[in-house]
Amino acid sequence: MPTTVIVGSQWGDEGKGKLVDVLTEDADIVARFQGGHNAGHTVVIGKEKFILHLIPSGILHKGKLCLIGNGTVVDPLCLIKEIDGLKEKGIVVSEKNLLLSKNAHLIMPYHMVIEAASENNKGSKKIGTTGRGIGPAYVDKMSRSGIRVSDLLYPEIFREKLEKNLRYYSHIEGISALSANEIYDNYMKYRERLGSLIADTDIVINDAIEKGRNVLFEGAQGTLLDIDHGSYPYVTSSSASAGGACIGLGVGPTKIDRVIGVAKAYTTRVGSGPFPTEIKDALGERLRERGGEYGATTGRPRRCGWLDMVSLRHSVRINGLTGLAITKLDILDGLDEIQICTAYKCNGKRIVDFPKELPLLESAEPIYESLSGWKVSTHGITEFSALPKEAQSYIRKIEEILRVPVDIISTGQERESLILLRRQF
Ligand code: IMP
Repeated sequence: MPTTVIVGSQWGDEGKGKLVDVLTEDADIVARFQGGHNAGHTVVIGKEKFILHLIPSGILHKGKLCLIGNGTVVDPLCLIKEIDGLKEKGIVVSEKNLLLSKNAHLIMPYHMVIEAASENNKGSKKIGTTGRGIGPAYVDKMSRSGIRVSDLLYPEIFREKLEKNLRYYSHIEGISALSANEIYDNYMKYRERLGSLIADTDIVINDAIEKGRNVLFEGAQGTLLDIDHGSYPYVTSSSASAGGACIGLGVGPTKIDRVIGVAKAYTTRVGSGPFPTEIKDALGERLRERGGEYGATTGRPRRCGWLDMVSLRHSVRINGLTGLAITKLDILDGLDEIQICTAYKCNGKRIVDFPKELPLLESAEPIYESLSGWKVSTHGITEFSALPKEAQSYIRKIEEILRVPVDIISTGQERESLILLRRQF
């Protein structure tokens, strides 16, 4: 697998955590390149369930090095809590298995306050963010007033930036209640805990690639939440598509060998924003319950709908996908019919490309092709030929429309519930 990027092809929550966990077997390094603890990657190993927010799921394997890249935003307290939680489950985190980029930006307590104010200001057009301070941390990064992980190593610089930012944001309700002294003291304590993990991750990863090591780039969220290519403004604030892997770790595009897009066998979305194939009746509720579609980070119920080829086609293009991984196929078991959205009707016109303009996307009506469902359980199936023929046709249809091979099918939460169609890893 030399270098493989794994990205979400929909609106996040596609089951990337499990895929990364499985592919980590063959990886030497697993690296996160964007986002922060807005992500929630669920991995089930035996009877144990792990929910990771910031640390790559590769941490669950012995002998792998995990990196949190420069493109991420890091809440140090959340990271410490995650490290402590892993320790309770017998996984010891140290600089031997986790490194944190000097150039990653820190999420500061004022970012949460700013986010709440910004969401309130949007009235009925709220993004429905996770409230973790992600957006405001990226705003500071882009406005060149952000505080980076490396600033923790220079207390005076850290203090100066902190005070400047608190002054700059003092007009926002709730900021004046924050104490610079308290924040400073806390962050210096976090430095004590995290100091040994801080590293030049760009050098580490490029050296590893040069030596022919296998590297897995673990995306968070999904392409339709990408700041540039998603359903703006209902997106997250980072580059969740494959290009983000290069920027967010300091790896050149020529070093990427393959890009796997993960998509559920249906679609979900958490938070506000257009969702053309959303099912608002009892069937949507059925998918939510069967699929356990509740946010791993916020616990919010996810909106559920049919598989959307218009948005997936966009994902294939934007990410340059070399393969697809279809997850949660078993959740569709027992349906008489399955709909697959092949085009949208916008303003009376049939369109096959994901609209850039929000009003068009909001008005999009899905045009469906109907396929036969299957009545038997696919849960835990590990061979393609053992799937009911209707499920096989469903997968083949996806390949035919997107013209990208389905490499992997996931048929349950457990590690073993997996069909590997193209053994290229
Ligand atoms: P933010 O990332 O907290 O700024 O939230 C922006 C949008 O992205 C909201 O609609 C969130 O629900 C969504 N979002 C952020 N992280 C995830 C994720 O890991 N899975 C699914 N949706 C997410």
